[in-house]
Amino acid sequence: MQSHAPTPSIPVPAIAGCPDGRPTDACETRPIMRFRCGTLNENWYIAALSRQVTAKKPFASTIMEEPIVLFRGADGRATALIDRCLHRNAALSKGDLFDGCIGCPYHGWTYNAEGELVIVPSESPEKRAREGRRLERFLVREQDGFVWVYLGTPERAAEKEPFRFPHAGEEGWRSYVMLTPFDGDVTDLVENFMDVPHTAFVHSGWFRKAANVKRAEATIERTADAVHVEYFQPDDSIGFSKWLLNPDGRVMTHTDRFFMPNLTRVDYMWGERRGFVITSQITPITPERAMVYTAITFRFGVFNPLARWLLPPYTRTVIQQDVRIMEVQTGNLRRFGARRFSGTAADEIHRAIESLRDHAAAGEVGPPPEPRSTRIEFWM
Ligand code: FES
Ligand SMILES: [Fe+2]
Repeated sequence: MQSHAPTPSIPVPAIAGCPDGRPTDACETRPIMRFRCGTLNENWYIAALSRQVTAKKPFASTIMEEPIVLFRGADGRATALIDRCLHRNAALSKGDLFDGCIGCPYHGWTYNAEGELVIVPSESPEKRAREGRRLERFLVREQDGFVWVYLGTPERAAEKEPFRFPHAGEEGWRSYVMLTPFDGDVTDLVENFMDVPHTAFVHSGWFRKAANVKRAEATIERTADAVHVEYFQPDDSIGFSKWLLNPDGRVMTHTDRFFMPNLTRVDYMWGERRGFVITSQITPITPERAMVYTAITFRFGVFNPLARWLLPPYTRTVIQQDVRIMEVQTGNLRRFGARRFSGTAADEIHRAIESLRDHAAAGEVGPPPEPRSTRIEFWM
């Protein structure tokens, strides 16, 4: 019988694993965000668009300061491994893909899609599993054109589902996705995406006009893992071609929702059948930097093809205005260090979001924030 154990000239010590048998990375606590975020890592985060992950070229992504390499194995399924070679720590994302495996660019150590080390060229070109040597592999789900990765404890992943993007694939609805790198931590970005008063200033003339500020009311409902805001301002309108958005003069309804820990959904509807929804999933890269995946989903009947043509430049302009204001805010938070905010009634939304995120960031110790419903009055 053929032996599968050629003796290496210099014996390499085995790499220690976690007590439960997982690779070392899975249980080590490096001082990175992933391990210093309470339970915020117990969540599916978007690591890439499906089309960014191929069998031809590795794709590098970072979630909570954890470098991840994504590619497709021989069966076409997306895989996500820690982007660090076991040998001398080179980034595997700079290497090559072949036969469903990834080869390190430095000395050619090769790993299969399971993360197992299968070729060590200095030992022999033979492909075989080197027992006990494998990279941390993350749980992956592919849904709605996104590749979602779970960075928390695998046992808890079953309790959570990747978020379902509203109206994805539904008849009559069209959708496109924008990727935007932002400065800001997730809480501040969520607040920006759910914030109405800034629209008259940051997006002046594009969205709402400062000169048109009117009294409005809203209800804010905080549940165990979400914040739902409903606005009451019958004469509110947003600055896009009225004939496209609302040709029959219906009242616009506007709701904003936050889903723990990193998603916002903003709905503008004119009746049941016409409207658009902006869903933003925020993937934290570092505590001050994020990749935002925004889905613009709309239904304008016969005007759908025209909207698909007109909306992207408009939404890109609006998002870039937010990128700039978040850069300003983040830069100043950095300069002043401590976070200290004062607020108004309209900031009740921010306080509700913060209370849920802060509770998770503190590891969910102590009682969770109570479900609560508030009605506020403000000018927008
Ligand atoms: S660092 Fe990857 S093979 Fe040496
Ligand atoms: Fe904005």
